[in-house]
Parts: sequence; C-alpha cells; structure tokens
Amino acid sequence: MVPSTILFVFGTRPEAIKLAPVIEELRRDAESFTVRVCVTGQHREMLAQALDLFGIIRDADLGLMQPDQELTGFAAAALTGVGRVIAATAPRVVIVQGDTTSALAGALAAFYAGVDVAHVEAGLRSGDRSAPWPEEVNRRMISVLARYHFAPTEEARAHLLREGATDVVVTGNPVIDMLLSTRTEGVAFPELDPARRLLLVTGHRRESFGEGLESVCLALRDLAESVPDLEIVYPVHLNPHVQEPVRRILAGVEHVHVIDPVDYVTFVALMHRSTLILSDSGGVQEEAPALGKAVLLLRDTTERPEALRAGNVRMIGTQRERIVAEAGALLRDPARLAEMAQVRFPFGDGHAARRIAEVLRDRLRGQ
Ligand code: UD1
Ligand code: UDP
Repeated sequence: MVPSTILFVFGTRPEAIKLAPVIEELRRDAESFTVRVCVTGQHREMLAQALDLFGIIRDADLGLMQPDQELTGFAAAALTGVGRVIAATAPRVVIVQGDTTSALAGALAAFYAGVDVAHVEAGLRSGDRSAPWPEEVNRRMISVLARYHFAPTEEARAHLLREGATDVVVTGNPVIDMLLSTRTEGVAFPELDPARRLLLVTGHRRESFGEGLESVCLALRDLAESVPDLEIVYPVHLNPHVQEPVRRILAGVEHVHVIDPVDYVTFVALMHRSTLILSDSGGVQEEAPALGKAVLLLRDTTERPEALRAGNVRMIGTQRERIVAEAGALLRDPARLAEMAQVRFPFGDGHAARRIAEVLRDRLRGQ
C-alpha cells in the first residue's frame, strides 16, 4: 500500500500540545501515513516552546506572527500561505484542531484545493457567537468544511449530527493523551514557599481584554493581600493586551509571581502543585479534571459544559468582587474544594490519538 500524505496545519501553543500525540501516532505507522507538518507561526515563542519540547519537526513554517496582529490580515496571509503548502505537498487529508484562525485557514485552504479536512476537537459549541470570539464561529465554519469529525465527547458529537455532519467519531481529546504521558517528577519550584497554598492563574481571552482582565488582576491583588497562606503564580500569555495590564496591576504585589509562559512539563507540574486554578483557557478546563484539580472559570460562557457537570470547574466570570468571594470561599472550605478537586475524565481516557489514526486508516483504505 502506498502511504497517504497527511498534512497537519496549526499555529498556536494549544494546537501543538493537542496535536503532538496525533502526529506521533501517525508517524509511527509509516506504511499507512506520510506525515507533514505546516505551522502558520500564528504564535512564535509560545509555539516554539511546545514544538521544541515535543520534538516536532516543521516541514513548512510560514512565520506569520506580527506583534499585536489583527484577525483579517493574519487570516488572509495564512490562507494564501497554507494554500501554497497544500499545492506543494498534495496531501490526501489536512488535519486541523479546534477553533483558531490557523485552523480555519487550514481547513478553508484544503477545501479550496479539493482536499479532505479532518477536524480534531470537533463539535464544541458555546451557543453564543460572540463568546468565545472569534472561536465559536471559527469552529462552526470548520465543521462545515470538514469531512471527518473527531469529537471529544458524546455531546460534541450530538452538536455535529444536529448540524448535518455525517462522519463523526467520538475519540476523546488528545490533550488527555498528552497530559497523561507527561512526566513531571524532578520539576522543582525552589522559588515557591512550601508553607503557602498555590493559586495558579492563566487568562488571555479576547472578550476579556480591557475591563475584564483588569478586574481579574485586581481580584488577584485582593486575594494575595487577604488570604494569609496564599501564593499566586501567573504565567502571562505574550499577547500585549494581556502583558500590559497584568504586569502593571500585579507588579511588586507580595506573594504574586508574574512570569513568562512556561513549557508544558513545567505548567503541568504547576497544576499538580496548585490548590486552586483560576483560568479562562480551554485546555486547562480539559486538563484539570484529569489531574483532580478545581478551576474557577473566568468566563461567562463555555463550550465545555462537561467540565462543569463533572464538578471540577465552576464558571464565575471576570468581576472582581465575585472572584474574590468565590476563590476566598473555596480556600476557606477545604471539604468543598476537595469535592470539586477529584480525578475525573470527561474529555477522554488518553487514547484519542490511537482512535483518530484507526479511523483515518479505515477511511483511506475504503476510498
Ligand atoms: C490565539 C487563538 C485562541 C487561542 C490562543 C491560545 C485565534 C483568533 N485566537 O489567541 O483561540 O486560545 O491563541 O493561546 O486564533 N504573541 C507573541 N508571541 C507568541 C504568541 C503571541 O508575542 O508566541 C503576541 C503577538 O503580539 C500576537 C499576539 O500575541 O500578535 C496575539 O496572538 P494571536 O494568536 O493573534 O491571538 P491569541 O490571543 O494568542
Ligand atoms: N500551558 C503551557 N504553559 C503555560 C500556560 C499554559 O504549556 O504557561 C498549556 C496548558 O496546559 C494548556 C494550553 O497551554 O494545555 C492552553 O493554552 P492557551 O491557554 O494558550 O489556549 P486555550 O487552551 O485557551 O486555547
């Protein structure tokens, strides 16, 4: 059998983390697949941090990131660039993940070239076109373009079937594969005080820029000042709209560590070490239940209601007083926190990549 060329197209940190196990799985079967990787470079340092850690070789790197880039210019450049890579690579299938602009550009370029699109993490829906923005609409458009839909959960599958998709398989999310294969023994944090409980924070969503993010930072300052045994670590996303308010408001606040993004192994070790997580990240909502951690979600909508129902995640928005009240209450009530912070697997069992490879082998053989 002649191996089928599979082209992965992505551009950001979370896509690299989630696709790495799939890339590795397909690479292992060279009889079936010839794997090619095209990165748009939507992210630069944060993408390199992940790719270097996982040893992913880029066959094409469009290097498109601009400081403070806007959506239209980036999307147009990515569409053109990926279109050229598809023309040169002639893949049977293009694989994209999730809902970024890179994923949308990859799917659209493939569709225009007459190449089948496989979508990993398909079928998530917040039901609100304005949040997360622009991701909710990006992923809906990708669903229209895709032929193969790899849904992380039954609920995601149900969304897709309702919208008319036909080839939908529940695989779990490969982020759980990645998480469960990540070894953190030996990662130490000498700068953290062992007598203090760790509150780990991430936040970068576009709909929170401005007032929302400032309010989160003010809440963190209040918590650092009012909870006596607390220490806060915030690895700050490199987006200037995030860096500026976080560093301005939290500079010099005692027991708050504002740091640059850390590599995946270090971040997983920080999650392990944490007592509570505050985040608006998609990936963190998926990882925390599998680690037995509790998350207060700094958003007003979520496309991952499975995490809310599991009990690990509680959605609280970005308002300062509410964050202080909710985090304070949980930190004062270890029994309630322990009830939330149990190990659960709403997003898969760590074998998503294997299932995705099986489906692709089957479909390509059948053609
Ligand atoms: C993007 C995705 C979002 C995803 C997030 C993950 C879109 C529309 N948004 O948002 O869905 O959740 O990535 O982190 O696709 N920057 C750097 N270095 C980096 C990365 C970013 O300097 O390594 C700065 C640049 O100034 C860049 C800006 O951040 O212009 C914004 O990056 P962009 O990818 O457009 O948006 P994100 O907010 O990261
Ligand atoms: N993460 C990381 N280093 C950090 C912060 C987060 O490796 O400093 C990981 C995290 O474990 C998760 C992913 O990055 O897997 C989330 O990425 P991000 O928050 O950028 O995007 P989102 O998940 O919101 O799309």
